[in-house]
Amino acid sequence: MNNILNKIQIPERIKLSNMPTKIEKLERFSKMLGGPNIYIKRDDQTGLEVSGNKIRKLEFTVKDAINKGANVLITCGGIQSNHCRATAAVAARLGMKSVLVLRGSSNIESDGNLFIDKLLGADIRFITAEEYKNSRLEIMEQIKSEYDKKGYMSYIIPEGASNVIGTFGYYNAMKEIIEQEQELGVHFDKVILAVGSGGTYAGTFLANKISENKCDILGVNVCDDSEYFKNRIYEIVQDTMKYINVDLELSKDEIRIIDGYVGNGYALSREEEINFIKEFAKLEGIILDPVYTGKAMYGLSEEIKNGNFKNDENILFIHTGGAFGIFPQKELFKY
Ligand SMILES: Cc1ncc(COP(=O)(O)O)c(C=O)c1O
Repeated sequence: MNNILNKIQIPERIKLSNMPTKIEKLERFSKMLGGPNIYIKRDDQTGLEVSGNKIRKLEFTVKDAINKGANVLITCGGIQSNHCRATAAVAARLGMKSVLVLRGSSNIESDGNLFIDKLLGADIRFITAEEYKNSRLEIMEQIKSEYDKKGYMSYIIPEGASNVIGTFGYYNAMKEIIEQEQELGVHFDKVILAVGSGGTYAGTFLANKISENKCDILGVNVCDDSEYFKNRIYEIVQDTMKYINVDLELSKDEIRIIDGYVGNGYALSREEEINFIKEFAKLEGIILDPVYTGKAMYGLSEEIKNGNFKNDENILFIHTGGAFGIFPQKELFKY
C-alpha cells in the first residue's frame, strides 16, 4: 500500500524529532472498557522540548523557511500553545530567533508552555483575544517588517502550522503507521486523534485515502463543531492534493468528526475530564493533557461505553502530546 505513497513526491523536511514513534497496546484500558483493542501511538515522545504533533509539521515548514533564507520564525497561538513552544525550541536548536504572538495577558503567571517559551528565549508579544481573532496576520506582518528592517529575514508560520506544507507531517505519520502495522502484525480499523485546527487530521486522512488503506480516520474536535472542521479539513486536503498533483474524488462525508466532547469550551475542563485524566495516568502510566488528548481519549472511552465500536476492532489513538499544558491547570486536579 505504501508503494503508492512512495511514488508521490512530497516537500523536503529537516529532521528534528524522534521518529518513528512507538505504538503500544493499552492492555489495562482495553480490558477495563471490555470492548475493542486500543493501541496508542506515542507522538508525545517526538522529543522533549519539541514534544507532540507540531514538530512533525514544523519539520516541513521550517525546511521551507530555511530554503527561503529565513533566520527568524514568527508564529501565533494561545497563551499555552504547544505549537508556539515547539517553534521556539526549533528556532533555538537551529540558531534562529523566534517571535511568538500569544493570545492573552502579560500579567499571567509563567507556567507550562509559556514558561518554556521564555526559557528558550522567544520574543513574546501578547495580544488581546479580539486582536487575535481580527488581526493576527497583520500583527505578524508588522513584526516581520520590524525584524526585516533590522536586517533579519523572517518567515511567518500560520497558527498550528496547519497549512499545506505542514500537512505532510501527518501524511508521513500515516505512512509510518502503515509500515508499523506490518511490523506489529496488526491492522488498525480506526485511527483516532484530537482536532484543534485540522492539520493533523488532514495529513493522516490524505495518506490513508491515497494508500487505499482500509481504515477510518476519526477526529474528536476540542473546539468549534463537526461542520466547521469538515469544511476546514476538506479545504486543507484539496489544497494539499493540488500541491502533489493528486486528483482523487473527495466527499466531505468521508471526513469523520466525533462531536460532543468540547465540553465547557476550548481549554476549559469539566470535572469528568480531569477525573478521567487522573484515572488514565494511574492505569496506564501515560499523561494526557487537559486541552487536546484528555478530551479526545475521554471521548473515545465514552463512545466505546455507548457501544459505538465493535469488540473485535483494533483502534489506534494518536497521542499528540501537550503534557506541559497540564501544569497551569494543576489546581483543577486537587492534589
Ligand atoms: C497536543 C495537541 N494535540 C492535538 C492538537 C490538534 O492538532 P491540529 O491543530 O493539527 O488539529 C494540537 C494543536 O492544536 C495539540 O497541541
